[in-house]
Amino acid sequence: AASDPDLVARALAAKEALGDKVFVLGHHYQRDEVIQFADVTGDSFKLARDAAARPEAEFIVFCGVHFMAESADILTGPDQQVILPDLAAGCSMADMARLTQVEMAWEAMTAAGIADSVVPVTYMNSSADIKAFCGRNGGVVCTSSNAEVALEWAFEQKADVEGGAKVLFLPDQHLGRNTAVLKMGLTLDDCVVWDPHRPHGGLTAEQLRDAKMILWKGHCSVHGRFAPEVVDSLRAEIPGINILVHPECRHEVVLKADLVGSTEFIIKTIEAAPAGSAWAIGTELNLVQRLANAHPDKRIVFLDKTVCYCSTMNRIDLPHFVWAMESLAAGTVVNRIEVDPDTERWALVALERMLALPG
Ligand code: 13P
Ligand code: SF4
Repeated sequence: AASDPDLVARALAAKEALGDKVFVLGHHYQRDEVIQFADVTGDSFKLARDAAARPEAEFIVFCGVHFMAESADILTGPDQQVILPDLAAGCSMADMARLTQVEMAWEAMTAAGIADSVVPVTYMNSSADIKAFCGRNGGVVCTSSNAEVALEWAFEQKADVEGGAKVLFLPDQHLGRNTAVLKMGLTLDDCVVWDPHRPHGGLTAEQLRDAKMILWKGHCSVHGRFAPEVVDSLRAEIPGINILVHPECRHEVVLKADLVGSTEFIIKTIEAAPAGSAWAIGTELNLVQRLANAHPDKRIVFLDKTVCYCSTMNRIDLPHFVWAMESLAAGTVVNRIEVDPDTERWALVALERMLALPG
């Protein structure tokens, strides 16, 4: 749907009034009506770096979800203020790993005698206190763009311990499993799933000792809904179609796909695809629709018509964006996201380890 012209004019006026004081970041899953005002767009890795590279901007307006705004706050200077236009824009996956739950899992690993060989790795899609937990315990943050190098780094950290290194991967079991099995040569038997809602994670001490990857039982409520049967029916319906999916999809879906990668990878792949080629994309719908509109010479379909937008990404709409921008222009700071100093310090350790990874 076309954006309300009055709101568009108000957003433009507020942005112009703020000038260089404001820098607007837009995640690829944002609505068209919002992304049109972004100074940069990107996946969570690119946006984390872009936020850090703008020390002159007093306000970073983050059109994305809560954990991304927290990461931007951690990576930007103390005088910069990060604004999330709707505070209800969270992430159900990030909410699946709470610090108290992770600490209980760590205690169980200590009791099982394996904590010394475990390196915690958290996906960017996690709260700042989970990133800080990783920072404190020798771990690292990763994104869907660099999960493989982050896992390589993590396994190297404890390569010399008896029995070999293990990774505790938070909070997305699918990104963890897909990366471990498809990129690192581990087997499904090397992976166990820690369920925070069951005593001792639902695992025996022996299972913990035998595992190489301890996957947290979290998932993305959007990507987790794509099903392998849909891939089969699309291939039957559109001969020659290429299946391109995000690694947050279930392992059975990724196994049936032709290509798998982060949102930046998905965009680059479609940009480089020849005219006339056909693609089914398994990621958030706003991005798939934008790609289809931008590439009318290619046939681009959404992998599964029954899967919806990410409801929390969509909370950032034009009215919220205009309200945040006009408030800033009028001198009122609204919806600031501020991570407490101790959490920030340790989360930064884990994020800086990520930014120092090769590639
Ligand atoms: P990336 O931006 O890292 O590809 O992650 C996708 C996602 O689900 C963000 O919420
Ligand atoms: Fe979270 Fe999934 Fe939405 Fe990304 S797409 S914000 S991982 S629920």
